Amino acid sequence: MGGKNKLQRFAENKTFGNLFQLQYHQVVKGFENKGKWGRNFFGNNHELILELGCGKGEYTVGLANEYRDKNYIGVDIKGARLWKGLKEARENNLTNVAFIRTRINLIEYYFGKDEVSEIWITFPDPQPNRIKVKKRLTSPWFLNSYARFLKPDGIIHLKTDNIIFFEYTLDIINEMGHELLYSTYDVYKTESVDSPLTQIQTYYEKIWLEHGTKIKYLKFRLKNDE
Ligand SMILES: C[S@@+](CC[C@H](N)C(=O)[O-])C[C@H]1O[C@@H](n2cnc3c(N)ncnc32)[C@H](O)[C@@H]1O
Repeated sequence: MGGKNKLQRFAENKTFGNLFQLQYHQVVKGFENKGKWGRNFFGNNHELILELGCGKGEYTVGLANEYRDKNYIGVDIKGARLWKGLKEARENNLTNVAFIRTRINLIEYYFGKDEVSEIWITFPDPQPNRIKVKKRLTSPWFLNSYARFLKPDGIIHLKTDNIIFFEYTLDIINEMGHELLYSTYDVYKTESVDSPLTQIQTYYEKIWLEHGTKIKYLKFRLKNDE
């Protein structure tokens, strides 16, 4: 990991006012920004968009730079990776960006009902072992969790190199009755050069592209059970 080592990054992370890394007991007791991110933190009522498993936060920072009238929060458990996104957001004076260091299993403690407009899931760990299938970020357990804070017309985007994960998600969307809005097996073939899907490349995406792997993308809307 070039430049600063992990411990230096962890130390610097404590100086960023837009990184939230709470203890478990603090989160479950009630997080002050839950349902109030606009009022408490961003100081506006703009749309809120999440990137889950954001790593270095390329989509969080890239989209926030492009769409200054929307708020973005990147979520990951790895603090040394988040440091990169935090630095970039600061260097670009992005006041519409925050990061949360947490396990995504706890994500619903951070957001209130209907608080989030969109979720990006970028190059998630594929969890290929069938025993670990519940850990996939598009498993029914996770989708039910996201439904607790996603707006009724909210959208989930998935960008991945992994065909098993991609087709698993297509199956789950179908089985759970969610609405598939769009899918492609090769983003760089189907999307224009000025689309965020081709303009913004993540750290893992670049590695897979070097291997010649086709990048897949889909977006869908959760079934509205109300
Ligand atoms: C393959 S990396 C992709 C990172 C980044 N999106 C990219 O494309 O470069 C998957 C990321 O998801 C995070 N992650 C996986 N499962 C997670 C979980 N349950 N909670 C929090 N982060 C998780 C990992 O820490 C890792 O940074």
